[in-house]
Amino acid sequence: MAFGILRLPLFSLMALALMNPCTGAPDTRQRETLMRQEASRQTGGSVVLTPAELQVDAYLHKLKVKERASVPFPPSIHFFKARARIQKSPVFKLLQKMPKGGALHVHSTAMVSPEWLVRNVTYRPNCYICFTWGGSVRFLFSDGQPYPQWDCLYWQLLQSLRASMVDPAKFDKSLIQNLTLFTEDPESAYPSDDAVWARFEDAFRIISGLVTYAAVFMDYLYQSLEEFYADNVMYVEIRSGLTRTYELDGSIHDKIWSLKAYRDVSAKFSTKHPDFLGLRIILSTHRIQRVSTIKAAIKEAIEMQKNFPELIAGFDLVGREDDGRPLWYFREALSLPAELGVKLPYYFHAGETDLEGTDVDANLIDALLFNTSRIGHGYALPHHPLIKELSRKNGVAVEVCPISNQVLRLVSDFRHHPAAVLMTEGYPVVISSDDPTLFGNPGLSYDFYEAFVGIGGMRANLGTLKELAMNSIKYSSLSPHLKKKLMNMWQDKWKKFISNQKD
Ligand SMILES: *[C@@H]1O[C@H](CO)[C@@H](O)[C@H](O)[C@H]1NC(C)=O
Ligand SMILES: *[C@@H]1O[C@H](CO)[C@@H](O)[C@H](O)[C@H]1NC(C)=O
Ligand SMILES: *[C@@H]1O[C@H](CO)[C@@H](O)[C@H](O)[C@H]1NC(C)=O
Ligand SMILES: [Zn+2]
Repeated sequence: MAFGILRLPLFSLMALALMNPCTGAPDTRQRETLMRQEASRQTGGSVVLTPAELQVDAYLHKLKVKERASVPFPPSIHFFKARARIQKSPVFKLLQKMPKGGALHVHSTAMVSPEWLVRNVTYRPNCYICFTWGGSVRFLFSDGQPYPQWDCLYWQLLQSLRASMVDPAKFDKSLIQNLTLFTEDPESAYPSDDAVWARFEDAFRIISGLVTYAAVFMDYLYQSLEEFYADNVMYVEIRSGLTRTYELDGSIHDKIWSLKAYRDVSAKFSTKHPDFLGLRIILSTHRIQRVSTIKAAIKEAIEMQKNFPELIAGFDLVGREDDGRPLWYFREALSLPAELGVKLPYYFHAGETDLEGTDVDANLIDALLFNTSRIGHGYALPHHPLIKELSRKNGVAVEVCPISNQVLRLVSDFRHHPAAVLMTEGYPVVISSDDPTLFGNPGLSYDFYEAFVGIGGMRANLGTLKELAMNSIKYSSLSPHLKKKLMNMWQDKWKKFISNQKD
């Protein structure tokens, strides 16, 4: 139709426009009804706002209209280039103050700011550094000179190295740069999917030497919770492989040690901050492994869940889907819980790809067949109408991580993010930040900004934000009792948030 009209000569277009307004034009009331009905389907479309909320909504809309007119429009460009602008945005400042509920998709080794890792962790005694062949670095805490490793021959005590430097501040900056992907010019730093994923996986290796030192691990977790809390996040579900922590003499703790650390830090933090509920763990294993390894991991997860039921939410496979093995390859392992008659909830990453119609793309189907509780990313979900329908019927929310998708090169302009489709039809979504250390998006506010201003477009409103926050509680792994508790805590904060905006 549209093409037909475009191909008409100008005078016939004018003739169309001049068509008799009484008989030819559609009915205005019908038009309004259609618009209202359509808007009611979107995320938050059926949320009824109080008079106070309507006032905030009107104010927010005004801010959004202004934001929309700014050039460049921040959600249309790379987050790394937009971040400084976003920080000044009044919409963003409001989102920071908004209680956002839970962060349901974050990874255990990428939760704090890289600045804290360098300025706090690398300044501790016994920290060694080594420069790899590839121009990267590795860290290790040790009470003596560490042994050479395959990519890393010579370890230097960081304290002595810094003392010998003319410009240690500049050096620290380069270390920060190693721990994050954040950079001024992302297009030339990461010219391809492979290039950005290579840096991504290397950054995990660099960070792991710092945070898996037992004495650092607890502080690291605590600091991570501080950063989420500072952004008005009240609960976190962490994907963790439970990497074993080490001591200065090279001895290694078992995974139970790490689990107890998570449990104790969570308890300590919520005692100090009663408006923070705590954390839960989704045990995760890399999808590059063999079936037998995944089988063992699942058995271990079942055991851990039995012993730490409040802490363990379920199981997931992590790592780049395009390079790893598809879920179907692991079907024998993933069927174990059902075979044994135990329930191990799955929270699969699936559809974090644009390889439509491949084995990787089928992960979305298989995630559903294995009764996944949520879908991590689900970037490809709009390409699977049937799966989308079924998973919606089963109450399977999608964890949308906008900035992660952009940095890892699935999308460049957030207005083209496929979650726009999910949001217009009210498919249950939650917003998360995936790897704040690597993407420079601490807490949830930056991702909420891109989802609200970019993906959601002008129609996303306060009702949308409210539903997104409530979704993070509703679709969390918490027991009904704790969901209710968290929802009450959130409602208190929400009321305060709304009344503070009115003043
Ligand atoms: C690092 O942070 C911890 C708290 O997590 C604090 O006790 C310590 O003094 C800090 N160390 C440095 C070197 O900043
Ligand atoms: C990592 O740090 C080293 C040492 O300062 C530096 O030469 C290198 O450029 C840094 N890497 C990145 C990606 O910034
Ligand atoms: C998924 O859930 C259905 C319905 O509860 C059940 O019949 C099926 O066995 C489950 N599949 C797996 C692999 O757990
Ligand atoms: Zn992830």
